[in-house]
Amino acid sequence: MTNTPMARPVLIPALALALLVGAALPSAPAAAQSAVAEGQALAFDRGKGNCLTCHEIKGGDLPGTIGPALKDIKRKYPNRDDLVAILHDEPKRNPQTVMPPFGRNLILTDKEINAIVDFLQTL
Ligand code: HEC
Repeated sequence: MTNTPMARPVLIPALALALLVGAALPSAPAAAQSAVAEGQALAFDRGKGNCLTCHEIKGGDLPGTIGPALKDIKRKYPNRDDLVAILHDEPKRNPQTVMPPFGRNLILTDKEINAIVDFLQTL
């Protein structure tokens, strides 16, 4: 069936409404989504987090096995402060570890650590 003159007046307000709703909704979820994407990029970046050198992470290529595979992280560490602490200074928790103190050594900023923690909580 082709567009009859009678169908058009209904279609245009419906389209306008869909556009309005689409423009009004995204801000909060989009911000969370971009932090996760940024965190993943930082974690996989060999010059930044470089986490794949030691950890297997879903979606990452050529992982090492020096550290445990990072999975079920949200269940294992429900409190995100624990993850921030691990990333900030794991040698403080475990003096024997080979994991670098990313925050204390200024390898990653607090903002970068928070983005990576957002990403880790999706694993
Ligand atoms: C040089 C190797 C190395 C690098 C690089 C590294 N880690 Fe680790 N990581 C370890 C080891 C080894 C452990 C095991 C615990 C320990 O040694 O204290 C660990 C433990 C962890 C844990 C706790 C896991 C669990 O199941 O309890 C998390 C979370 C973690 N690392 C995240 C990261 C993230 C995110 C990065 C990148 C920003 C990273 N690690 C980079 C070696 C590394």
